[in-house]
Amino acid sequence: MWKELLPLGRAESGGYRRFAWTGPDQECRQWFRAQAASRGLAYEVDGNGNQWAWFGDKSAENAVVTGSHLDSVPDGGAFDGPLGVLSAFAAYDELHSRGTAFTRPFAIVNFCDEEGARFGLSCVGSRLMTGSLTAEGAHALRDADGTTLPRAMEAAGHDPAALGPDPERLARIGAFVELHIEQGRALAETDHPLAVASAIWPHGRWRFDFHGEANHAGTTRLEDRRDPMLTYANTVLAARKKARLAGALATFGKVAVEPNGVNAVPSLVRGWLDSRAPDEGTLASLVAEIERAAGERGGRDGVDVRVTRESATPLVEFDHALRDRMAALLGKDIPVLPTGAGHDAGILSASVPTAMLYVRNPTGVSHAPAESAEEDDCAAGVTALADVLEGLV
Ligand code: GLV
Ligand code: MN
Ligand code: MN
Ligand code: MN
Repeated sequence: MWKELLPLGRAESGGYRRFAWTGPDQECRQWFRAQAASRGLAYEVDGNGNQWAWFGDKSAENAVVTGSHLDSVPDGGAFDGPLGVLSAFAAYDELHSRGTAFTRPFAIVNFCDEEGARFGLSCVGSRLMTGSLTAEGAHALRDADGTTLPRAMEAAGHDPAALGPDPERLARIGAFVELHIEQGRALAETDHPLAVASAIWPHGRWRFDFHGEANHAGTTRLEDRRDPMLTYANTVLAARKKARLAGALATFGKVAVEPNGVNAVPSLVRGWLDSRAPDEGTLASLVAEIERAAGERGGRDGVDVRVTRESATPLVEFDHALRDRMAALLGKDIPVLPTGAGHDAGILSASVPTAMLYVRNPTGVSHAPAESAEEDDCAAGVTALADVLEGLV
């Protein structure tokens, strides 16, 4: 299974570029469909484009669902997302070889556009299903070329007419378990190949627009400039300092410059802040402080700063009963970890008992080509997922 997936959307960097509804994403989706077909699972695509592979009566209630996503960030690692989908199929195979009798409907899911790399909002498929993104909100999403989400779906052969909340489907899900590569160093130096998730930090994305004045790089005296790059650079430094003091995270990982010429002072710098903190109060005050620092610096530089919140995801605490059950099943000393990384499981947890399992990542690197996992740890992940599912189905 893994071998077939590995070449899809692979970039020169060795990472992956599998953006929602692009060719590589379509190839991954075909892979999913083929995996479902080869097991005789009933394949279905919901109105939001999420893919499902069903065993048992898919219209019945209380289904047990597992899976993750197949899209990636720009030059993302091989495991973020695909490991959860692949492990779901492998765990299903394992349950069959154990002769497990399923008493509840069971499904494997590939949620659309988890990373938000193309349209700027993460977890689009799960947000739509749960209603935390409305159809109207989805119709307004555009990629960098101005293509709207419905147009992109249509171009990929998927009818966007049914985009929107899917309460009936959601109500049929009795439990969701997502296996995922660990995305930091929490397990890298431990003896533990696996961990159970406790919580996801609240997080969000803010767009900072720094408006200055374009001018000649060779003739405009420094004191005459209204240089938005200067304000932006100082804001990046302030964000880092303030995040460190708050015990939180702040990242400017994407920036757009206009007119983007080597020999011109820019007219506009647009930087996207991704910020995450252990609690919502800390996150709100950190972002407010960064905004204030940007505004103050802009005042000195003659640069107008405007901030738009593009998304916000509240604190997630995974289902305590399910989490405790998993910890007991997988060994009482299994680490139980919070994370700053967002997941579809976090979105679903507002509506469905949800849990996550992490697989050790020896490099501790994620959202980059160096993300890694040992084969034995992946195998332990599949067995653990099968153990957990066996207790549920
Ligand atoms: C998704 O992977 C995120 O946490 O940004
Ligand atoms: Mn990711
Ligand atoms: Mn992921
Ligand atoms: Mn993610």
